[in-house]
Amino acid sequence: MYIVPGLASQHLARGLAEHLNQPLAKTSIQRFADNEAYVRIEENLKNQDVLIVQTTYPDPHIIELFLLQDAAKEAHAKTITVITPYYGYGRQDKKFKDGEAISARALANHISLQADQFLTVDPHKDYLMDFFSIPSIRVSAAPAIAEFLKKKNIEFVLAPDKGALARVQEIAKQIGCPYDFIEKKRIDSHTVQIQPKPFNVCNKSVAIIDDIISTGGTMVQSVKELKKQGARDISVVCTHGLFIGDAPKKLRLAGCNHICSTDTIETQYSTIAVAPLIAEKLQTIVK
Ligand code: R5P
Repeated sequence: MYIVPGLASQHLARGLAEHLNQPLAKTSIQRFADNEAYVRIEENLKNQDVLIVQTTYPDPHIIELFLLQDAAKEAHAKTITVITPYYGYGRQDKKFKDGEAISARALANHISLQADQFLTVDPHKDYLMDFFSIPSIRVSAAPAIAEFLKKKNIEFVLAPDKGALARVQEIAKQIGCPYDFIEKKRIDSHTVQIQPKPFNVCNKSVAIIDDIISTGGTMVQSVKELKKQGARDISVVCTHGLFIGDAPKKLRLAGCNHICSTDTIETQYSTIAVAPLIAEKLQTIVK
């Protein structure tokens, strides 16, 4: 077996290789003068099970993934598993208006062309997995987030919208603390409104947990609300930290004390490793 790291997920791929006790493939991924991608896997992959690890964000990493798949196929790999820790384009998962592309499905179709299996972490909606024509595996980051928050002695967790509630409920159960949610209305991609409601957070250490932090707009509203209600220490936590523009600054200004995400997108905030969970899932499937 070989673990092939894409440029977007090098740290995670290394962690996966360590947890699976399998070699990390040497690759050369470069750009030509016109910015087209060049990919070479510098190993003999013939008859090997190959795991390609590459988050599909931002866009250039998508084409690198397709080329890595092609290189593995060309080298006669026995099986190709695509591990996309963060599945970019997952939020355009249906037609909101006539004439639109279903981007999540389009990407799934392309990945399925040269792979035997697909794995991702916390897809935006579970039904995204049905867009793949190959077996698709979903890994939940909840146990890793819960373990991280338990060490921080978090006393209350909040879902910043109803969509995040099931995950927050699962994490709260593992931490053993109360939880609640806020009703959110999205006005546009940069503006959200929330329905204020009272929480028992005065003087407490709290965490707000979502699947994605993009512009930070959703989290900012919840942070402000918990701050107003006297929370002592506020962490914002997510699986996929996109942190667009000045999102971290906006979060701090709103009163957030800690910004944490998993390493599905590798940034300075990705302090929670998901490689152990991915390795565990792969080992269960093989057994
Ligand atoms: C929405 O359904 C997602 O779960 C997140 O709440 C959303 O993507 C966060 O976006 P932003 O940080 O831009 O508010």
